Amino acid sequence: MNLAGLEALWRERRSMRAFRAEPVPRATLTELFAAAQHAPSWCNVQPWRVAITEPPKTAQLAAAMQAAARSGFPRAEVPFPLEYPDPYKQHRIACGAELYRNMGVARDDKAGRYDAWLRNYAFFDAPHVAVVACDRRLGPYAYIDVGLWLGFVVTAATALGLETCPMASVAAYPDVLRAELPRGEHDVILFGLAIGHADAEAPANRTRTTRQPVEANVTFVVS
Ligand SMILES: Cc1cc2nc3c(=O)[nH]c(=O)nc-3n(C[C@H](O)[C@H](O)[C@H](O)COP(=O)(O)O)c2cc1C
Repeated sequence: MNLAGLEALWRERRSMRAFRAEPVPRATLTELFAAAQHAPSWCNVQPWRVAITEPPKTAQLAAAMQAAARSGFPRAEVPFPLEYPDPYKQHRIACGAELYRNMGVARDDKAGRYDAWLRNYAFFDAPHVAVVACDRRLGPYAYIDVGLWLGFVVTAATALGLETCPMASVAAYPDVLRAELPRGEHDVILFGLAIGHADAEAPANRTRTTRQPVEANVTFVVS
């Protein structure tokens, strides 16, 4: 595959926030995650630790997570950003505004925003959620490895005709995840990943995010 083909795959991938119930066969999920095993990592430590739900477990976990989100206290094991300084703030606002505009949720519609946020904890009705952790003893560099692996997973999913949504939000209630899923003694829980077939008609899935021109992020240095 040349770069144009790879970039086309990257451009095709989008985060989807409404899924159809139809599960993905175990063999396809295995194929997806086996392909992503080729992600590089520092010293090849391969630190991603992944628990993937299949029905009916996904709905059971979603019920427990939604209950926690309604009444519990968020307590992510890796702290969420407390504030987003510019320019990140502007990107964050634009991405939220685009999602809510597509969903028809007005800026001052607090109940609508709350419901949209709660949808994270139903994993947007996806039939599968991968809950991703890594070994805390490796320190923050292992998070880089897991982030890179995530890039491989979401790209491989697109190549297989599947849709995904990474969800840091899911990491906010680790007690539920630890009670419901097998977890290693040293795991730090990082994020969830909804996996399935997107509902093409759902308004949320019309959302399109933009990207900065490359000059905003990349500087060439000659001397
Ligand atoms: C590590 C990570 C965590 C994310 N957490 C959430 C989340 O909790 N809820 C959500 O709706 N989207 C989440 N997203 C999706 C981003 O909002 C999305 O990737 C971004 O807006 C760019 O849009 P795109 O994925 O459609 O290109 C997350 C993405 C990443 C990479």
